[in-house]
Amino acid sequence: MSELNKIALQILSNGKGILAADESTATMTKRLDSVKVHSDENNRLLFRQTLFSSSSMSKCIGGVILYDETIRQRTTNEKSIPELIKLSGSLVGIKVDTGAKILAGSKEEKITEGLDGLRERLNDYYELGARFTKWRGVYLISDKYPSKLSISANAHALARYAALVQEAGMVPIIEPEVLMDGDHSAKDCLMKTSEVINKCFEELDLNNVDLKGTILKPNMILPGKNSGEKISSEEIAELTIDCLKNNVPSSVPGIAFLSGGQTEKEATANLNQINIKNNTNFIMTYSYGRALQQSALKFWSKDIKNIIGTQKIFDHRANMCTLAAQGKWSENLENSQ
Ligand code: G3H
Repeated sequence: MSELNKIALQILSNGKGILAADESTATMTKRLDSVKVHSDENNRLLFRQTLFSSSSMSKCIGGVILYDETIRQRTTNEKSIPELIKLSGSLVGIKVDTGAKILAGSKEEKITEGLDGLRERLNDYYELGARFTKWRGVYLISDKYPSKLSISANAHALARYAALVQEAGMVPIIEPEVLMDGDHSAKDCLMKTSEVINKCFEELDLNNVDLKGTILKPNMILPGKNSGEKISSEEIAELTIDCLKNNVPSSVPGIAFLSGGQTEKEATANLNQINIKNNTNFIMTYSYGRALQQSALKFWSKDIKNIIGTQKIFDHRANMCTLAAQGKWSENLENSQ
């Protein structure tokens, strides 16, 4: 087994998933504004160190994705954040893209940037303790989108990123996110997501990326937020599994879904069904941002000194997601808190 494959399996095995706490300062500021907490370096640190020292970390969280600011921070007890994360047996990850910018040639769509100087930044992150990384490509969906240009440009960037990350001895998370926004049907989402993922693997192959040392972070197959279409978790699971079975090479060890604007409960119920129906060899787990942190953030915002209370809420969420990653979640357990 290669070192990279071992890292990927360590992050994803035994029902563990990933805590995506890699919101950029701009995004974190939006999240904090929404609960009326001032976004400064210290408050961002306080919320995150509260989560990273929760008791569910060792059982549920195989890896935490950080943002550049956080990987360099020290806790109020003078421990580095990577040290704190490693105490629970979790691996440290880092978002290495520099964000999505307007794609020249298709003004409404975006291309993710960050390849220039990436080799040097990766060495720095490795020294700081990172063993895996994240890069997110983002795709609009409608009748005319994603365009061939966006599909091809983002796949190219994701693959060049992945090759550089493996060269630096880390596991790349490959995140092509087809957004939930829009009035498209679940069938459209299936068709377009399939095209996007397919192109990513074509480019990964071209760039000689060792797929056993990667993690795919896709969206689930869902109807557009404004489509009015209602489908069950069972149907979502079937469509999602179909998409992955037909487009992801079997050497990829695991899939860690993004939550993408689903509620905490939707993201958990859908992952649970995916695991009940999973007839592939892929590990299917979570790499959630909002669906792990939303309730904890709301609670914390009311009294940022209530660390135990905040951790209790986070622990419940992490435990529910870990049950879902094994197909063992239920409504009763959800309401048992
Ligand atoms: O890039 C997106 C994050 O890593 C996942 O966030 O679960 O809130 O979509 P989300």
